[in-house]
Amino acid sequence: MRYLYTVVLLLACCIANCYGQTNAYNYKSVKQIRVKNGAVVSAHPLASAAGAEILKKGGNAVDAAIATQLALAVVYPNAGNLGGGGFMVLHSSKGEQVTYDYREMAPGRASRDMFIDTAGNADTSLSQSGHLASGVPGTVAGLFLSHKEHGRLPMAALIDPAIKLAEKGFVITGKEAAGLNALRDDFLKFNRVKPAFVKDGSWKAGDTLFQPHLAHTLQLIKEKGAAGFYEGETAQKIVDEMQHGKGIITLDDLKQYKAIKRSPVTFDYKGYKIVTMPLPSSGGIMLQQMLGILERYPLDKYGFDSPEAMQLMIEVERRVYADRAAFMGDPGFVKVPVTALTSPAYLAQRMSDYKPGKASESKNIHHGSPQQEHEETTHLSVVDNQGNAVAVTTTLNGSYGSRVVVGNAGFILNNEMDDFSAKPGVPNMYGLLGSEANAIAPYKRMLSSMTPTIVLHNGLPYLVAGTPGGSTIITSVLQTLVNVIDFGLSIHDAVNLPKFHHQWQPDLVYVEKGFSAETLYKLRGMGYHIYNRNGIGRTEVIRIKDGIIEAVADGRGEDSAAGY
Ligand code: GLY
Repeated sequence: MRYLYTVVLLLACCIANCYGQTNAYNYKSVKQIRVKNGAVVSAHPLASAAGAEILKKGGNAVDAAIATQLALAVVYPNAGNLGGGGFMVLHSSKGEQVTYDYREMAPGRASRDMFIDTAGNADTSLSQSGHLASGVPGTVAGLFLSHKEHGRLPMAALIDPAIKLAEKGFVITGKEAAGLNALRDDFLKFNRVKPAFVKDGSWKAGDTLFQPHLAHTLQLIKEKGAAGFYEGETAQKIVDEMQHGKGIITLDDLKQYKAIKRSPVTFDYKGYKIVTMPLPSSGGIMLQQMLGILERYPLDKYGFDSPEAMQLMIEVERRVYADRAAFMGDPGFVKVPVTALTSPAYLAQRMSDYKPGKASESKNIHHGSPQQEHEETTHLSVVDNQGNAVAVTTTLNGSYGSRVVVGNAGFILNNEMDDFSAKPGVPNMYGLLGSEANAIAPYKRMLSSMTPTIVLHNGLPYLVAGTPGGSTIITSVLQTLVNVIDFGLSIHDAVNLPKFHHQWQPDLVYVEKGFSAETLYKLRGMGYHIYNRNGIGRTEVIRIKDGIIEAVADGRGEDSAAGY
């Protein structure tokens, strides 16, 4: 009898928690699809499926992107979020290009030296974990602003799939189980209410994760709109959580938070128009700088995995990351010389000391040591059959953010305060250096590297791309575009072939496995310090060509494409 009851219950849950062909208790990643109507590619099969279902129901790409982000907040808690922030780049069917900035903001009580200890040193344990590490979350405000301006289906329909996933649970993979097990001690250390992410015993592949508190928070958002997060019960829970852990986010900070519509960074590259994210992400300006330099060189003749192309791109990356450290920050607080940084004359002069066949040197005393296992952000790309294309990158910053789960509200808070420069010259978690331009100030947004990008050809969406990966985001997006536009690689190869990264400081070239031994030997001979590392980015790309939508999910993770 009990057996029969269990079977009926599982069957009922399954019916209630299936998205089209995707079942939350039995699903797998789909790495590449070719479809005609619309596609979503994201870090999790269930999130991509939730977005694709919205497209099938007549929702547009913005609706699908919202549903996918909300589903990611449930099924991909290491980076999907309600308690973090993000950026959306949109090319609408009307030919309009806009971006939405829902980056986190420093709380009103934040101060320039809040992470400096009594000995004058930056205490990165405080900027990277626990309650003080969190900026005021922006995601929910961003979802509602983009929906108000471009959504087609009611917001309730976009939230429902996430509520179901949180309430009725979903099966986790071995990788997800390992991630949760690895952080068990942190979850116990930073939380007074035992979060859903902590289990008696260890998680294993095939276990079901239920998140009733998160389901309740999502229900409040469904009923009350953004106020269901920034005011009332949820806001009070965030503030109670802050008081418990000596955090500084107040009810007023939450009420004041606003997502911002911004004009994108746009520029031409070899017959394509690139549409990407402006400040407070450094990504778009840096992409413009890097491609603005690269367009003077015959990259197509050099080819992928050639020492000529790699050396040139390393030197371009080095110079542009040095500019990032010196000049960039929230444009509401600092004057960033964007026009000068991207002017053709400046870009030409920037390479005047470039010597083919010989490495330059990054002159700085500090040598950061980026902690690659902490990088967590997530990207999704969406297109519909109406001509809309959406690129969204969102983040908690580190994997599972600050590890603080708001008590009884079920969502993780970001540790985005570490993206500020806690002290000039001291590297953040990505080894990035910063200056006064990115110093902490109340209500200021921390500089980001997120680079959601749309490439137009003849005025229509051609590529939608983006990736997580902290400081490597910008170089991964750059190399993906160059792989397609200059090297003529397939989308599959542009995403999955190895990537490399140089960020000025530390003066190292990070390389994934897969570049030829001969090329690396030649680069070493030129004086480059080659450093092997895993997983540079997890790039999600959609290309629209000859009426076919090709969506490719990065093979580095469990990322997945869905569409019809
Ligand atoms: N937290 C990573 C970024 O915004 O660049």
